[in-house]
Amino acid sequence: MRIFVPRDAAARALGADAVAAAVLREIAARGLDATLVRNGSRGMVWLEPLVEIETPQGRTAFGPCAPADIPAILDGQSDKALGPVEAIPFFARQTRLTFARVGLTDPLSLAEYEAHGGLAGLRAALAMTPEERIATVRDSGLRGRGGAGFPTGIKWATVAQAPAPQKYVVCNADEGDSGTFADRMLMEGDPFCLIEGMAICGLSVGATKGYVYIRSEYPDAIAVMEEAIRIARAAGLLGPALLGQGPAFDMEVRVGAGAYVCGEETSLLNSLEGRRGVVRAKPPLPALEGLFGRPTVVNNVLSLAAVPWIMAHGAAAYRDYGLGRSRGTIPLQIAGNVKRGGLCEVAFGLSLGEIVHDIAGGTASGRPVKAVQVGGPLGAYFPPSLFDTPFGYEEFDGAGGLIGHAGIVVFDDSVDMLEQARFAMEFCAVESCGKCTPCRIGAVRGMETIDRIAQGDPEALPLLTDLCETMKLGSLCALGGFTPYPVLSALTHWPEDFARTRRAAA
Ligand SMILES: Cc1cc2nc3c(=O)[nH]c(=O)nc-3n(C[C@H](O)[C@H](O)[C@H](O)COP(=O)(O)O)c2cc1C
Ligand code: SF4
Repeated sequence: MRIFVPRDAAARALGADAVAAAVLREIAARGLDATLVRNGSRGMVWLEPLVEIETPQGRTAFGPCAPADIPAILDGQSDKALGPVEAIPFFARQTRLTFARVGLTDPLSLAEYEAHGGLAGLRAALAMTPEERIATVRDSGLRGRGGAGFPTGIKWATVAQAPAPQKYVVCNADEGDSGTFADRMLMEGDPFCLIEGMAICGLSVGATKGYVYIRSEYPDAIAVMEEAIRIARAAGLLGPALLGQGPAFDMEVRVGAGAYVCGEETSLLNSLEGRRGVVRAKPPLPALEGLFGRPTVVNNVLSLAAVPWIMAHGAAAYRDYGLGRSRGTIPLQIAGNVKRGGLCEVAFGLSLGEIVHDIAGGTASGRPVKAVQVGGPLGAYFPPSLFDTPFGYEEFDGAGGLIGHAGIVVFDDSVDMLEQARFAMEFCAVESCGKCTPCRIGAVRGMETIDRIAQGDPEALPLLTDLCETMKLGSLCALGGFTPYPVLSALTHWPEDFARTRRAAA
């Protein structure tokens, strides 16, 4: 018998280690022929720590568990029983392509990885011509999951065509957006998938070296990735010849130092080179002059981790999912004031209302939903009147927002949108790299102007919209350029929260 208790950081924060220790104690005390596996999380965070027991009929789930629940679970008399894990509605409605193995396997078992479809993508890619590899990624319709939604195949083609003695693959695992955790869950739950995606990328563009830039706040992900790279190297997956038959490709983990702006690709490259994390002006594009001045693919964890599935199943199979120009699946990360928070991988196209009400179950407080911020701290706030917006890049853009890294943070009617707008400006002021004036100075002036609005100054409102326009048009990168999205969406959809009078404030 195998018993599964996640090693995922969210599960651990909720007590998974103590639960795992209780499982080991019970196994020893009862003399059971059972093994404990520390798997990744299935993404149902409200049920963590989620214990799973392997049975001939499949895996049965129990949660959320405390150490004291374990004896009853092993006696078959637990009130925490949830039935077959894959039948839990939140899980059952997903299309798990990128996250197919997360929670299912032991993250550090290369044998299990292969047994569940791992390495099929790299093997398929090794059998293709260089043109076929790039064409497969391009035809799949995959777009960058880091935020900008740039077509991955075009980026790879640019690097592939650039002549250079050395090229690099850089994985952006800085994951700084509020309410996002998919990169972390993937790295902790299925690290070989990212390694395989990076190896396919290196093979496709002619890069022999890869770096995974992981934020320092992710010690578990850093440890798992480092161990997985060591295992992959020892098995000959990485090294002088990919899988013993391809060209050389090796990779390393690099740890970030805690700046949101280091998730911006050019800042990240500066940081990787040991410099201060300041945004570089473009051009040159990193694809032509990136890390150490060499052609570099910079891709998000989810973009790279989608590639093994695409290579193994073909571009058309991936492209079949989705809507419009948003093809394939998107791992939604649902957080904030919700009944059911966690990671839910679905095809593009669900409406925001379906996500908030059907998947997340509405607010945890039971109060009405007032606002949903999509796409991290630079994303717009959506009111319920826009809940029919389908989840897709163009569709969200058309509604005045962005999907970013697909973080969804829900607020009930107790939220004050003026405070949220001020927070957006404050965040920008704190995190600004300082290179350009509209962001460095504008964000500070933005906080002051919102404070004036809060005190009932009637002249401050037009000043705020004017300032937002300057930041949008004049900032060098999206930190300053997109901060107006949360601010202006709050002002547009909830003008009443900004309509303070001097008397009311006094
Ligand atoms: C301020 C700022 C922060 C960013 N943070 C991240 C991040 O944490 N992770 C990420 O993948 N992309 C982030 N991006 C986007 C990257 O600049 C870049 O577009 C992305 O890594 C490209 O990979 P993709 O094409 O696979 O999305 C950020 C951009 C900006 C402007
Ligand atoms: S917008 Fe802000 S973070 Fe971006 S380059 Fe300008 S100062 Fe730096």
